[in-house]
Amino acid sequence: MNKQYIERVFDFSFGELTISQTTIGDVGCVVWDAAIVLAKYIDGPNFKEKHSFASSSFLELGAGTGLVGLTAAALGGIVTLSDLETLIPLMQKNIESNKNVLKGKCSSMVLKWYAVLWGSNLSFISPPDIILVSDCIYYEDF
Ligand SMILES: C[S@@+](CC[C@H](N)C(=O)[O-])C[C@H]1O[C@@H](n2cnc3c(N)ncnc32)[C@H](O)[C@@H]1O
Repeated sequence: MNKQYIERVFDFSFGELTISQTTIGDVGCVVWDAAIVLAKYIDGPNFKEKHSFASSSFLELGAGTGLVGLTAAALGGIVTLSDLETLIPLMQKNIESNKNVLKGKCSSMVLKWYAVLWGSNLSFISPPDIILVSDCIYYEDF
């Protein structure tokens, strides 16, 4: 069976984000409900009162399709989406599809949590102001 894309459109204060999911892939190839809740939260008054998007850098761990990080980038943040290597093409596709809505910047990178724990370091990126994580601790190990 060939991999196909399914588009989902999400409404925010700044307009819409169109996020592609794939019909074949691991858990990161679809938008999880927690991502929708977190994306709506950072687009809401509580988060906006406390954080200035324009001067903040964000790192999303286990970003999957990238909905949460793309929301932060649409609001003006400088965002890095990260996940396993297999998710990079999907994240890049979603960055590309939404580039006209992004007030800030968004890029993607491979970042494996265990590799960090096992001794490699993150000196290749600047420490982010805010780390975003949605639905990534479903196994005790995580
Ligand atoms: C349940 S999905 C959630 C995806 C997205 N955050 C969301 O809420 O829609 C969990 C994500 O964690 C990623 N992940 C799992 N193990 C990982 C690891 N060791 N390092 C980095 N990412 C990992 C998966 O690839 C997947 O994108």
